[in-house]
Amino acid sequence: HSTQPTIFVIFGGTGDLNQRKLCPALYNLFLEGFMPRQFAIIGTGRKEIADSKFRTTLEEAVSQFSRTGKAEQKKWGEFAANLYYCPTDFNTPKTFENLKAQIEEKQAEFGGNAQIIFYLAVAPNFFPIIAECLQKYKLAQDEDNSRIVIEKPFGHNLETAKELNTLLSKIFSEKQIYRIDHYLGKETVQNMMAFRFANSLFEPLWNRSFIDHVQISVTEQLGVGDRGGYYEGAGALRDMIQNHLLQLLCLIGMETPISFDADEIRDRKVEVLKAMRSFSPEDIRFGTVRGQYSKGWVEGKEVPGYRSEAGVDPHSNTETFAAVKFHIDNWRWQGVPFYVRTGKRLNQTSSLITIQFKDVPHHIFSPEVTENWQQNRLIISIQPEMSIRLQVQAKRPGVNMVLNPVDMVFDYKGTYDTDSPEAYETLLLDAMTGDQTLFMRGDQVEAAWELVMPIINTWESKKSLNFPNYPADSWGPEEAEALIARDGFHWFHLPMKNKD
Ligand code: BG6
Repeated sequence: HSTQPTIFVIFGGTGDLNQRKLCPALYNLFLEGFMPRQFAIIGTGRKEIADSKFRTTLEEAVSQFSRTGKAEQKKWGEFAANLYYCPTDFNTPKTFENLKAQIEEKQAEFGGNAQIIFYLAVAPNFFPIIAECLQKYKLAQDEDNSRIVIEKPFGHNLETAKELNTLLSKIFSEKQIYRIDHYLGKETVQNMMAFRFANSLFEPLWNRSFIDHVQISVTEQLGVGDRGGYYEGAGALRDMIQNHLLQLLCLIGMETPISFDADEIRDRKVEVLKAMRSFSPEDIRFGTVRGQYSKGWVEGKEVPGYRSEAGVDPHSNTETFAAVKFHIDNWRWQGVPFYVRTGKRLNQTSSLITIQFKDVPHHIFSPEVTENWQQNRLIISIQPEMSIRLQVQAKRPGVNMVLNPVDMVFDYKGTYDTDSPEAYETLLLDAMTGDQTLFMRGDQVEAAWELVMPIINTWESKKSLNFPNYPADSWGPEEAEALIARDGFHWFHLPMKNKD
């Protein structure tokens, strides 16, 4: 935990992200004693509001969105005394002078040795101007004591991601840049590294000799909601696969690091992306599927189709579902397909990684006693259930020899009685302590874009699709089932209460 005085400057201070995630996360860090004794959080944005209004808005937000529930009066009062608001208009850089003055005032109060963290929780078109203003007003010159945290999306394609990296690298050193992928802050995702590299049991099996295939499935029941405007220009591949799902894939696919050093871990992850097979037109035709949801019923309520959502073109070709078959061309993974799927308005909200092991080399049990035969699986459930299951065959109790798959389960709820922190709590604390392990390095982002660009380009070149092609509350388009069924597999999901 960081004891150095810290000044947070949150661009987009009145925005959704600060209200839903950042401020509740900082408040929880404060409650748990992880904030330094001296800190200030300066929200900034175009609106002209007083500190008092900023504080009450955030108090309501924390009460609504914090995992710990309602902001408790005394504690909230102590926390809120460190909240300030300073209006800035990014189109009028001169307004940065006020911000600079406010930062300097706090810096003086903290004895001149505070670190400053600039958090860009704004639309990506403002990233360049803010970065340039920070340079112009000499706000981020101290390499050791100033950092910039950048929300997704990092670029719209490979070219724009490169441009942004080039611009940032002129102003900041890489060790000052914290590119967020909030999936990496999730408790269960971090545990994947502990699981793989703190146990001797799995590593010998973690390769093409024992693993048959891997599935990464992140499904959501919600539609695009009020984010139609953003989502129209993104789609499922950009919104989820280029970042979150490929990062999960890297954690499964990476070689064993020699230490838990941030760059060592990130080097190993970049190697995975570099080893991934690039997509030929043939691979795109047979190894990718896209879909878009139509209206339907979810839990008794009628929900609109994607093309009728606010901010969406009624003839939109943006995909709200994507499934892709990836390959990692190296010794460890040759011949092991990685199937990835994600989508909105699906039947379940669940993030699941399934590692299916190869079948036994010879069956000694007759088919009559092994009706439910299932190859061993390791199932990492990231959310909402937080668990790791090892699926094995076992004898069912009884006088006859009948086999059934059973789960050996480690679940967080049953094992620990503490609540897991939210991803943003972990990531904000890491930004304060200067640990970049869970943040994306520039080359990581570019390698991920490079991999998906052929798919994006092919998809975008074909206009007027036969969309929508899956109803709300389904498992997505039938073609996604066919994609995996062609190889003799099927998508795995955990049975959900009240559903299956
Ligand atoms: C965001 C995407 O990055 O991740 C959203 O932009 C998506 O579209 C969200 O809903 C999913 O995150 P989580 O943490 O709810 O699984």
